[in-house]
This record gives sequence, C-alpha cells and structure tokens, in this order.
Amino acid sequence: MSSQKTLTPKHIAIIMDGNGRWAKSRGLQRWEGHQAGAESVKAVIEGCIEAKVEYLTLYAFSKENWNRPKTEVNALMKLLEQFLKKKSSELKKNNVRLQAIGNLQDLSSGPLKELKKTIHETRNNTALTLILALSYGAREEIIHGIRSVLSDIKEGKLDPSSLDTKIFSEHLYTAQTPDPDLLIRTSGEKRISNFLLWQISYAELFISDKLWPDFKKENLLEAIQDFSNRERRYGEV
Ligand code: IPE
Ligand code: IPE
Ligand code: MG
Repeated sequence: MSSQKTLTPKHIAIIMDGNGRWAKSRGLQRWEGHQAGAESVKAVIEGCIEAKVEYLTLYAFSKENWNRPKTEVNALMKLLEQFLKKKSSELKKNNVRLQAIGNLQDLSSGPLKELKKTIHETRNNTALTLILALSYGAREEIIHGIRSVLSDIKEGKLDPSSLDTKIFSEHLYTAQTPDPDLLIRTSGEKRISNFLLWQISYAELFISDKLWPDFKKENLLEAIQDFSNRERRYGEV
C-alpha cells in the first residue's frame, strides 16, 4: 500500500444512528423514527449507485440492540421484514445485490425468510453490493473467525505458522468484501459501537451531525467529496 489521494470510495460503511432522537424531537414514538430511517436507506443506496460505489454496508441492528425493550425490538424486526418485502423489487430493478452479515439465525423467522429470499434473487446483480449488518457484533465476528481458523488447523488444512492478516480476513463474515474505505456515523456520536473492528483498520472516518432520518443523498455525496480530498498515508510519509 502506498500513500495516495483517493477518488471514490469502493466500500462505504454506515452506522445509521439517531432514529430515536429524531422521533423524540417530533413527539413521535421511537419506531416511527426507525420507519423514517428506511427512507434514508433508500436515498444512500441511490447515492452509492450514482457515485459508482461498489459496496455499501449498513449497520441496521447490533448484537447489543437485543437488549432494548421488547416492543422496540419487535417493531424493528417488523420494519425489516416490511422493508425487504417492499424494496426487493426496487433492489432488483436497480441491479443491487443484497448480502447480510451477523448472527442471522437470531432473527425472527419472518424477516429471516424475506432476507434469504432477496439475497438469493439478487445474487447475480452487479451495480452495488448492499450488505446489511444484522444482529452483528464485531467481537463476536472475530471469535467466529478464530473458531474457523482453529477448525482448519485441526483438520490439517492450515499450518499455524502461515496464518497472517490476509488469511484471517478470509475467516470473517466479510471474506468476499474489500475493507471499507469510508466509515460514516450519523447523529454526531464519535464511537464505533462494536462495528467492523477488524475491517476499519485504515478506513477514513466521517461523523455527520444529521440524525439518520435527516441524512439524504446530498449528505452522502458530501461525505464522498470530503473523502476524495483526504490523503491516505497507511503509516508512510
Ligand atoms: C439507530 O437509531 C437505529 C438502531 C440502532 C437500530 P437509534 O435507535 O439508536 O436512535 P437514538 O440513538 O436513540 O437516537
Ligand atoms: C449502533 O447504534 C448500532 C446501529 C446503528 C445498528 P447504537 O445506538 O445501538 O449505539 P450506541 O448505543 O449509541 O453505542
Ligand atoms: Mg443510537
């Protein structure tokens, strides 16, 4: 890797935060904030296609989000199912390939069924790969990767002395995906919240003060513009 000015990010990852505060500021219920957030998802997908971004990973539900009140968790699962049902034809029309990372077997059967169906139906699409992080936790992903490495060693498929960062990356959920170049978090919070810890090692960070439902295509394009002016140095001079 050498230090370089980069143009368009190949992979953008987004921590979509602030739905609850958006709803509260309008005197609405939290789930209504999540519902409004779905429109921003649509906007950033369109923005990525326009800007020729190849991969978009959206943090939609964390492992820790299961600890929220049951009513909110249920509403989020319902909204996920509805989103997939409603947007699946649009994803197909826009040539978007859907994938998912996380502990998917934790999801309720309704959204899980829709998810698997849309992933299957869009598997050959080529404009944009949209990756939903669902019941996702980066530390859990790393443990999963370690177990997978240990199993390869036990089966004699891997010599422990040849393990390196490239091989380890191939044991993560993101094995087939290049690392994110740009990580966006909305709602002004400056933390990672257990998202893609391994993969964001050299990502550029962009914190937006917009709450997620207010984050629109122009805000994404602004983040891409900001990224294109940065100098990535990868530890060099
Ligand atoms: C992000 O919005 C959506 C999820 C985490 C599912 P929040 O629900 O975290 O909204 P705030 O942070 O409470 O405003
Ligand atoms: C991170 O947001 C998870 C998602 C966006 C899905 P949270 O709102 O759950 O994170 P914290 O609690 O502020 O760290
Ligand atoms: Mg939040």
